Amino acid sequence: MSTDWLRDAVIYEIYPQSFADSNGDGIGDLRGVIDHLDHLSWLGVNTIWFNPCFASPFRDAGYDVSDYLQIAPRYGTNDDMVELVDAAAERGIRVLLDLVAGHTSIAHEWFRGELAADGPSPEGDRYVWSLNPPLRDTSGDIPGTAAWVPSPGPRPGWYLKNFFDEQPALNFGWARLEPGEPWRDAVDAPGPMRNRQALRDIMAFWLDHGVAGFRVDMAFSLVKDDPGHGETTRLWRDLRAWLAEAYPDAVLIPEGIEPRGQGTPAFDADFLLVIFEQHASLFDNGGAGQVPFHEPLEPFFQAEGGGSFHPFLDAWEGLTSEAPSRPLILASADHDLNRLAHGPRTAAELRPAFAFLLTWGTVPSIYYGDEIGMRYLPGLPDVEGSICNPAYNRSGCRTPMQWDGTANAGFSTAAASELYLPIDPDPARPTVLAQRDDPGSLLHLVRDLIALRKDEPALGARDGTRVLHADYPLAYLRGDDHLVLINPTTDVRTVELPRLDGARLLLGEGVGVNGGAVTTAACGFGIWRLQP
Ligand code: NOJ
Repeated sequence: MSTDWLRDAVIYEIYPQSFADSNGDGIGDLRGVIDHLDHLSWLGVNTIWFNPCFASPFRDAGYDVSDYLQIAPRYGTNDDMVELVDAAAERGIRVLLDLVAGHTSIAHEWFRGELAADGPSPEGDRYVWSLNPPLRDTSGDIPGTAAWVPSPGPRPGWYLKNFFDEQPALNFGWARLEPGEPWRDAVDAPGPMRNRQALRDIMAFWLDHGVAGFRVDMAFSLVKDDPGHGETTRLWRDLRAWLAEAYPDAVLIPEGIEPRGQGTPAFDADFLLVIFEQHASLFDNGGAGQVPFHEPLEPFFQAEGGGSFHPFLDAWEGLTSEAPSRPLILASADHDLNRLAHGPRTAAELRPAFAFLLTWGTVPSIYYGDEIGMRYLPGLPDVEGSICNPAYNRSGCRTPMQWDGTANAGFSTAAASELYLPIDPDPARPTVLAQRDDPGSLLHLVRDLIALRKDEPALGARDGTRVLHADYPLAYLRGDDHLVLINPTTDVRTVELPRLDGARLLLGEGVGVNGGAVTTAACGFGIWRLQP
């Protein structure tokens, strides 16, 4: 089995609605992505992660799938996906799809079939039904997401949802059975086993179409009332074992961090996304104070220098000491909260943030548009479920990619703003077109950092990472002889560092070495190769 390639991945997340619109209907599509693969290849990324692009009523932007085996007509056809995968492969780029494993849309034929029935299926229900309104929420560990919804009929009773009401939870069984709660199937009951087989069939279908693996949505939500996620992990381990036999190069990446202490890991990596506290402790892409995922905190990447690197470092050290070769994927941002460029963070502050993202020992995942510093736009309306509650507004990080300087930026008709989210109206908004022509742009810096990461394998996810100064400015060693210095603040900072004499600066801004000390200007950074 060789999923080892994941350690060399530089991931680029494409939100298909918003990336590139080839036919001017105001919504992105696969042809648009194919047309812009050269941008990704020029940038140097080697793995695309697509948000769901399957048939869907788009109550939750496609995370409500009505047919897993069909590309949503608005994005194109299954043949377009094959063409895209092939065209990407020609450029050395792999494609990962989003596997929405825990729930479907109410429009899925499985759900419609069970809704039309007057009682449980003799083959085992694919969803979780209760005849009487359950007295308590017994669904388990995701408060506010898994809950009971009254059936719209004809089937009487209630069904369990996983996120929005229109996303009924697939039945993968319950870790604990309770007398008097007949909806709790065992994990190996017929319904859960049918669903497990369905996941295999869906994965096989798309792997046969050439994709390289999956990011698994709400990966740990499958088995309900599963303290420590032991049964859910067992389920994934079962699927992983099958994959290893049938598709040895395919990767499975969870949304989040796989619980430890459950035996052999089921997934090939962990994924630090914006909703996680450790991610917020670096960038705080708007989690604190907006949604109750964690306590408000000061991020390390901020002009004033009031944050701490330790929450992230502790998590990193814990994860890597347990599994040194297991990749930890770190996102610049993603489609669920905010962007790297948000609130008071200036364009200059994005530069040390990217220098960190692309030289730390994590596998980087760049959210489309972050490479040019696209901003989170506050206060946008709800589109396709982007607002989960008044304080949890994902619209502002999902606006159309800013390709060029015209009003429509590749989303070529007014339909873009009427049907979908508006393009950033600021005439000074960053664009790919302008930044491609400007060697001093963020886009060029991100490209240079990716190229450097490739040329100097010590900067990638295989070599060790040792922190020399876990404060402002941050300093760390990669491998035996690469040193990185990052100043997220707008102050001048100086630090004594060993072995800098005679070191070669590979890439840097605003850094000056004087004997064993280095001084950095505001938002400076440096990457050196030391004398062996
Ligand atoms: C996590 C996804 O990232 C998010 O966008 C979605 O709304 C929920 N899961 C439900 O599928």
